[in-house]
Amino acid sequence: MKTLSTLLIAVTLAALLTPVAQAQTPAAPGADAQLSTLLAKPGDVDRGKAAFVTCEGCHRKNASGRSDGSIPRLTGQHASVVVKQVLDIRAGRRSNPSMQPFVVDPSFTMTQLVDIAAYLQALPFEGSIGKGPGTDLARGKQLYERDCAACHGASGQGDAVKFYPMVSAQHYRYLLREVIAIRDGSRGNSNAEMVKVVKPYTPAEIEAVSDYMSQMAPSKP
Ligand code: HEC
Ligand code: HEC
Repeated sequence: MKTLSTLLIAVTLAALLTPVAQAQTPAAPGADAQLSTLLAKPGDVDRGKAAFVTCEGCHRKNASGRSDGSIPRLTGQHASVVVKQVLDIRAGRRSNPSMQPFVVDPSFTMTQLVDIAAYLQALPFEGSIGKGPGTDLARGKQLYERDCAACHGASGQGDAVKFYPMVSAQHYRYLLREVIAIRDGSRGNSNAEMVKVVKPYTPAEIEAVSDYMSQMAPSKP
């Protein structure tokens, strides 16, 4: 009897925990294999520029996004991060209902994705960034250096090999939305380690750290 009830508790717990675990660890079968196959291919910047027309309507011709934060800036983002995020969006591992139809469309190919990623990584930044209010940057800097720099880099440059996004000079309202969505699991692909870090943050702390990232100089190119 004891074994049976222990088993029942274990099964119930597993059922309760599964949705949370799925939201935070996007380990779909074959996802990692597809990612490494695509990243082994060299992208073609010129072809990428041509293929980017599909994306321009939202991300803008210069890929600077929108300063109201509705659309992220993509210039200079690591090619590996672009490929991973688009694959996640395409497979529904990252929630993005407005963009998903464009990347599940059969006319959008994986060669185009690799080419676009090479193009974006090399694209210089132009346009303007929607910055935060700048009212608590000292606190933002302190939090960033303590809790975020180990992954996202001292100057927000991210890490291409580990798929940590570049977060410098990104639109404030986008950063704010993503930090909250990652914390709550509503983004889909939430990094479990990052969730642990941002869980105890107050709204004012999330605003301060997002503001700080939005004010950082563009890391590259
Ligand atoms: C209908 C508008 C729309 C189109 C078209 C679109 N996107 Fe997006 N994209 C978005 C939105 C909105 C987001 C941010 C969603 C969020 O808030 O999480 C996004 C996010 C992204 C991200 C994640 C950026 C990051 O910092 O994590 C990448 C990469 C991206 N888009 C690439 C593309 C590419 C490549 C194309 C063309 C093949 C494209 N998008 C077409 C609306 C669009
Ligand atoms: C353990 C490493 C790690 C730590 C620590 C971490 N992050 Fe992240 N962060 C990630 C990863 C990985 C992603 C991308 C999620 C994915 O693809 O699954 C991400 C995504 C983000 C994004 C979305 C970027 C975009 O372009 O969409 C923001 C904003 C962000 N992190 C901010 C922060 C802040 C602020 C902190 C500190 C309070 C922090 N992160 C701490 C690993 C980390």
